[in-house]
Amino acid sequence: MRKRVVITYPLPPERLGALANLCDLDVLEGSQPLLQSLSSEQLASCNGLICLLTDSIDRALVDNMPNLQFVSSVSVGVDHIDVEAMTARNIPVGHTPGVLVDATADTAFALLLAAARRVAEGDRYIREGNWGRKTRWSPDFFLGKDVSGGTLGIIGLGAIGQAVARRAAGFGMSVLGWTPSGRKVPGVDSVSLEELLLRSDFVSVHLALAKETRNLLDAAKIATMKPGAVLVNTARGGIVDESALVAALNSGHLYAAGLDVFEREPIAMDDPLLRHPRVVAVPHIGSATTLTRAKMVDLAIGNAAAVLQGQPMPHCVNPGVYTTQ
Ligand code: GLV
Repeated sequence: MRKRVVITYPLPPERLGALANLCDLDVLEGSQPLLQSLSSEQLASCNGLICLLTDSIDRALVDNMPNLQFVSSVSVGVDHIDVEAMTARNIPVGHTPGVLVDATADTAFALLLAAARRVAEGDRYIREGNWGRKTRWSPDFFLGKDVSGGTLGIIGLGAIGQAVARRAAGFGMSVLGWTPSGRKVPGVDSVSLEELLLRSDFVSVHLALAKETRNLLDAAKIATMKPGAVLVNTARGGIVDESALVAALNSGHLYAAGLDVFEREPIAMDDPLLRHPRVVAVPHIGSATTLTRAKMVDLAIGNAAAVLQGQPMPHCVNPGVYTTQ
């Protein structure tokens, strides 16, 4: 019998073609939560799931999916999936590593530069009609923070953290790095997290969100950051205590923040982060280039196709499921 695969977003038909030959595709459209509003029959008959990072794939959901054989996410992060629950059922979970490294590193650097040199603030200033009416150019007009020659601390030295380090070298920055695995990277001075926070003019976060990294940058850690530092986060909002970040910005301890990710997405319009003029916020677009997103979709479809053809998933976050079967 043909398998039934649910996709939580209408991916481009030209990319889905090969998959459509291998299974029946059920493409969901509408507003979240899409999966949680499926009927018990629809959940029970689902053999595979291709999802986005906005879908919550938790134990309660998959308990209602007795025939689920794989989950393939169009994302590198899998914190929206209860991987432990999947592994317990020998369900492989696929993701899209590698292809979004440069796009995400570019976004981190764009946020770093924008936050340091007040790009978003300057843009608002012009659009609101303030340039020329209230002020004019002067030697102390719209001063920002020097990037070139500064010290960048990179938290997490996986592929994206390393790509950010390469960009920083081009800006003549000194680069410090800390990663939970203790990995050493050429051109990056490995230090403890404490030392990194103490010495860095800019701190950029590049870790996956997990139990161990949730709230890693809490109030106590943020208090030890170098006065006047800029925080950049393109990883996951849950790694930074956002109320502590707002407090540090309001007190002037931190200079600015560049944020692509938030504890709750979409961020609420009345969130204090959005009221702070030195916060540059973008809507989780780290990997959002046409080419990168096409590659991510192709990897996710490839992961699904492999399972449907009886092969191991090429990009599986819990490959142990193949040795315990
Ligand atoms: C983006 O945040 C991703 O995990 O792909």
